[in-house]
Formats: sequence, C-alpha cells, structure tokens
Amino acid sequence: MPVDVLIGLQWGDEGKGKIVDVLAPTYDVVARFQGGPNAGHTLTFDGIKHVLHQVPSGIFHPHILNVVGNGVVLDPVVFRQELQKLTDRGVDWAQNLYISKKAQLILPSHRALDRLHEEARGSTKIGSTLKGIGPTYQDKIGRTGLRVGHVLLPDFEERYREAVAQHAATAGHYHRTLDIAAEEAEFFVAVGFLRTLQLTDTEFLLNDLLRQGKRILAEGAQGSLLDIDFGTYPYVTSSSTIAAGACTGLGIAPRHIDKVYGITKAYCTRVGSGPFPTELTDAVGEQIRQAGREFGSTTGRPRRTGWIDLPALRYAIMLNGVTELHLMKADVLDGFAEIKACTHYRLPTGATTPHLPDPGQLQDVVPEYVTLPGWHSDLTQLSAAADFPAPLQAYLAFLETELQVPVRIVSVGPDRVSTILR
Ligand code: GDP
Ligand code: IMO
Ligand code: MG
Repeated sequence: MPVDVLIGLQWGDEGKGKIVDVLAPTYDVVARFQGGPNAGHTLTFDGIKHVLHQVPSGIFHPHILNVVGNGVVLDPVVFRQELQKLTDRGVDWAQNLYISKKAQLILPSHRALDRLHEEARGSTKIGSTLKGIGPTYQDKIGRTGLRVGHVLLPDFEERYREAVAQHAATAGHYHRTLDIAAEEAEFFVAVGFLRTLQLTDTEFLLNDLLRQGKRILAEGAQGSLLDIDFGTYPYVTSSSTIAAGACTGLGIAPRHIDKVYGITKAYCTRVGSGPFPTELTDAVGEQIRQAGREFGSTTGRPRRTGWIDLPALRYAIMLNGVTELHLMKADVLDGFAEIKACTHYRLPTGATTPHLPDPGQLQDVVPEYVTLPGWHSDLTQLSAAADFPAPLQAYLAFLETELQVPVRIVSVGPDRVSTILR
C-alpha cells in the first residue's frame, strides 16, 4: 500500500513542509490534495529558506514527481510567481510537475469576494488569508467554478467573463463593485503560462504509478482543526484537510493508504479568528512567539500561541488514523523552566472531559493542565535521540501515553538536518 499521508494535527503551520522535504527521498511522488495559496510551507536546507504555497514540497528533489491534485484550488498568478522564484534559484521543475485539469481556478474576482465577505462579517470575520479560497470552493460546490482544464478550451475567456459577471452580482449585494481591472492583465498572462505546463488528469497518472509500485506521499495543507467538517466551524478553511481528503483530492482509493504522519508542534499556534482554549495572551505566549518566530509564512501575521492541547490532538489523531507522530519545534521550549500540557477541559457544567466538545462550546471550556519540568538544554545541538535530556524523554513518554501513538520524529530546528528519528 504505497500511499502515505502527511497532515497537520493543529491549526496549520505545524512544520509539514519541512517534514515532507525530509521524507521525500524515500518517495517517488509528492502530491498536494487540497488547499491552495493559503498554505505556506517552509523548507530550509543549505542555508536557504524556501516558502512554497501551491508547489508540492518534493520539488527540490530531481527524482520526484510533484502533483497538484484535483482537490486543490490554484491561483495561476501566485503559481507563476512561485515557479519563477524556483527558476531563479536554479530549480529545474519543468519535467517534474503535473497539475490536475480538475483542480479549481482561483480568479481575481474570488480574491475580491474573499475581501468583501470578510469585511461584511465585521467582528465575526474568519481571519482568512484573503487568497480567494472560500469563494473558489463555494463555486466548486455550487458547480459554477472554472477548472484548470478549462484554460485549454477555445471559449475560456467567455467562461471567465460569465464567472466574473456572477461575482460582480454578488458584490452588488454588498453595494460594491469588484474593482479587479488591474489584476486581470496579470491573470491572463499567468493563464498563458499555465497552458505551457503539464496539465493532465492526474488521477490516471497517480494510479498508473501505484500499479508500477511507486511510492506516493500526500502532502496536507492547513490542519485538522481547520477542516471544513471537523474543524472549529465556522472558523475553518473550506477544504477537507484530514487524511480522508487525500482520497477525494487525488483520486486514490482508501485501500491504498498506509501510514498517516501526524505533525504537531510541541506547543500550539493559530492564525486568524476562532476558539483556541490553551491560548496564552501573556508574557509566556509572547516568549513562545518570539522563540518560535511565530509569524505567518503566507501573510506575516503574528500567530496566536499557547500550550499543547491534548483533547484537540486526540480528536485529530482519531479523525486521521495517525500511525506516527512528528513533534516539531521542540527546541522552541528550550528556555522554559516548566512546560504545560492541557490534558482535559473543564466544561461550564463543572464536569471535565478528555475530548474536544462541539466547536460552539469550545469558547467556554477551561483547560486543565499538567506541568512538566523543562530540559534546560540546547536541543539544536543534538543529532541523536540517545542524547535527549531526561526531561525531554519524559515529555515524549508522557505524550505517547496520553495520545497512544508513537513519536517517531523530533524536530529541533528549521533546517532539514535538525531532524531526529526515534
Ligand atoms: P507548515 O505550513 O506546516 O509547512 O509550517 P510553516 O512553514 O508555515 O511554519 C513552520 C515554521 O517553523 C517555519 O518557519 C519553519 O522553518 C519552522 N520550523 C519547522 N520545524 C522547526 C523546528 O523544529 N524548530 C524551529 N525552531 N523551527 C522550525
Ligand atoms: P499551512 O498549510 C495556518 C487559516 C486562516 C484562517 C482560516 C481560513 O501553511 O499550514 P482561508 O484563507 O483558508 O479561507 O482562511 O484558515 N489558514 C491557515 N492557518 N496555516 C495555513 O496553511 C492556513 N491556511 C488557512 O488564517 O484562520
Ligand atoms: Mg504554513
């Protein structure tokens, strides 16, 4: 069963891009199955930091095919810029990149609508990345969207105009105009560029490769708590971010899935609005933000920070069927005398629960913590699990007991080499 799925277990930015890059050499294909330019996946190696938004994180390995699957929403403008940057850095991607003709196209008018919807929500805004994700998935589900394959049709521009007319009507409901004239020119340049790429029905490509025994790594974007069904709705993204999304987002049958890698930070972060029970708005939260450089890879926004949330992780592990955990950014906690972990929530009724309640109730829970000793050492200098300080060993053992899944990787720095296998 050669498809493994890698997903974020929290609210995104767990370090998925780094681990895809680390694991990539043992795979033949890396495939994105959902999300779009809302993602920002950071890879650091040879002293250079790369941030990928829509290009799969296997692109730096010449032997790997990189697939943008049908479940993705693709902004051609952002894609062209990303690929140009890779070209400038000497990455030869042309033969290794395939894009599904069934992926949805993000239009300039989707970005404009994203802004209008958010403005209209006022104090209940989602805190979206304003990349047009919600409106594009809305059109997909509403069966009015444009697909990547449509750029190859002779009447593409006509279809585009029809879509924009509908979007203009929606803007009219807000008594606003779309105001996208300036963005349209670069959109059509980017569409011309998209036509030169390998656009295909990637479900056939992937299943052919599977038949040949090739190994596929499905790269999740966002995180399980941002999932459209199971996340903290409505403060979620608009796609299936959990492992099951890899099947529909790539056209791969469930029986092919083997391992599910669950990526979590040693603490917790969130960008945008919505409940975050273990959030720290005090000096400790600020210390985590500074030590972890917790500022968004896509929008630069400061990330909200807090302690690790085990009820939320248990939920995500259940939904995804996680077979192994990868604990990221352990080094960020180096300077902490004590580390806290939320094991239970206290509900407004006074009862405690180890489970995540309905998102509507999550605002009102009070986290119950256990406190563990910090390790008072510089983890970034370590290269083997045998050298882990005793308090870190104890923290890992504690997590494995609480979560009932083995921690197989501990990450101790942004670079590819700062990755310790257990
Ligand atoms: P993704 O969206 O899940 O791929 O994660 P992001 O790239 O948005 O955010 C993770 C951030 O943490 C990036 O800036 C990474 O370079 C950085 N990072 C990843 N792993 C580690 C680690 O173990 N330690 C530290 N200090 N930084 C890390
Ligand atoms: P990666 O793949 C963190 C958040 C936004 C907002 C909500 C909805 O880098 O982990 P959207 O633009 O999708 O409509 O925004 O989801 N969000 C992310 N947060 N990491 C991401 O991606 C995110 N993608 C979206 O901040 O709260
Ligand atoms: Mg990110």
